[in-house]
Amino acid sequence: MKLTPKNYQSVAKILDFYSQFNPSPLSIKKFIDFGLNACERKSFIFLRKELPVRLANIMKEIALLPENLLRMPSVIAVNDWYMRSFQEIIEFEKMDEVSPTNLLHFCDSLVKIRNRHSDVVETMAQGVLELKESHDIDHQMEHSIQYFLDRFYMSRISIRMLINQHTLLFGGQLERAPGPNQSKYIGCIDPQCNIVSVIKDAYENARFLCDQYYLASPELVINQFRLTELERESDIRIVYVPSHLYHMLFELFKNAMRAVMESNGSLDQLPPITVTISKGKEDVCLKMSDRGGGIPRSLHDQLFKYMYSTAPQPSKSDAHTVPLAGYGYGLPISRLYARYFHGDLVIMSCEGYGTDAVIYMKALSNEANELLPIFNKTTSKFYRTVMPTGDWSNQATTLNSRQISMHYKKHQLPHSVQESMSEAI
Ligand SMILES: Nc1ncnc2c1ncn2[C@@H]1O[C@H](COP(=O)(O)OP(=O)(O)O)[C@@H](O)[C@H]1O
Ligand SMILES: [Mg+2]
Repeated sequence: MKLTPKNYQSVAKILDFYSQFNPSPLSIKKFIDFGLNACERKSFIFLRKELPVRLANIMKEIALLPENLLRMPSVIAVNDWYMRSFQEIIEFEKMDEVSPTNLLHFCDSLVKIRNRHSDVVETMAQGVLELKESHDIDHQMEHSIQYFLDRFYMSRISIRMLINQHTLLFGGQLERAPGPNQSKYIGCIDPQCNIVSVIKDAYENARFLCDQYYLASPELVINQFRLTELERESDIRIVYVPSHLYHMLFELFKNAMRAVMESNGSLDQLPPITVTISKGKEDVCLKMSDRGGGIPRSLHDQLFKYMYSTAPQPSKSDAHTVPLAGYGYGLPISRLYARYFHGDLVIMSCEGYGTDAVIYMKALSNEANELLPIFNKTTSKFYRTVMPTGDWSNQATTLNSRQISMHYKKHQLPHSVQESMSEAI
């Protein structure tokens, strides 16, 4: 069906309907249990409701964005993709019969939707750039955009996770599953993810870029610590999505390498990057330490802002190559991946020395629940609230950004949203 202004209106009504439901977060354990007893029909019935719910929840938030941003060509394009995909999925809600043909058709639609949305991150970023180039952005608007992008990209991560699980389990794409021990994967989850091998993989690929750019690169040192004697001999393993872990590590390695290369004059004495892996009862932690000169404290609040970068922006003519840095999306998106399954990513830096970046992951797969944005009245209010003015002396500018980070603490959501979310979990 083509999108005309008329059926945009009717889609809007259906959107309202689905946005009243809260998304249902799943844990890694649930994904695995489901994958082990894989029933395509059950997955179809769950997804044909859950996907429109997740889409509608975030689409209602897109509609709350500042008007100027909504008018940017790239944002219009993203909005259109969401509308189309939403419409395509709700077609399946109307079907009474779950026939093999419908199941096949559903799988094909999911693949089509995944492909349609593959450039969403870049296109949305482009939309924000278009806005910045054509309008003055005040502090309030910047705040709303940051808040929105965190939720929007998190929603996207979660929708892709659902689509990937279904298409990998039922779409005959298993042979394309990533990693060396393909057969042990459950969809895109590795129940025995070897952390050291993901680290080495991410390191080698970042090192390739670093060598290309600087003609040298720092070495890697890995240390492992665990609570139990039993595990002492072997590499630490975790039930996790290796591609998510890889994404985070690749970004952290690129940052650490750039810092080491930029801050060390003599190339033959580069300090190594050290990754320490620890496994406790609750958490698996990965600490990446570099001696790349660190980050001044006054900039700490900026690190997780979209498009904050101290690297030159990669030129458009280099669009086909992967740059080492410059988009400013590395840290914020990586933190979303960590938080998606209730982990976290924090940066601790000492200016003049170096930086530690820690990735936390839940050690138990039943505690690794999805963290999802929920659209409700509090969310709407957030986009309209005027930022409070600082009430401490002398720090007008830094205080404002501190206030943001305090407000953002605990997964960057207002308290009331967190409450409603823990109920949902
Ligand atoms: N390990 C590090 N050492 C020094 N500075 C860092 C480190 N990691 C991140 N940064 C700073 O944070 C900024 C944002 O990082 P990121 O979000 O990955 O974007 P990008 O790498 O594209 O600039 C970097 O430009 C850099 O100034
Ligand atoms: Mg980076």
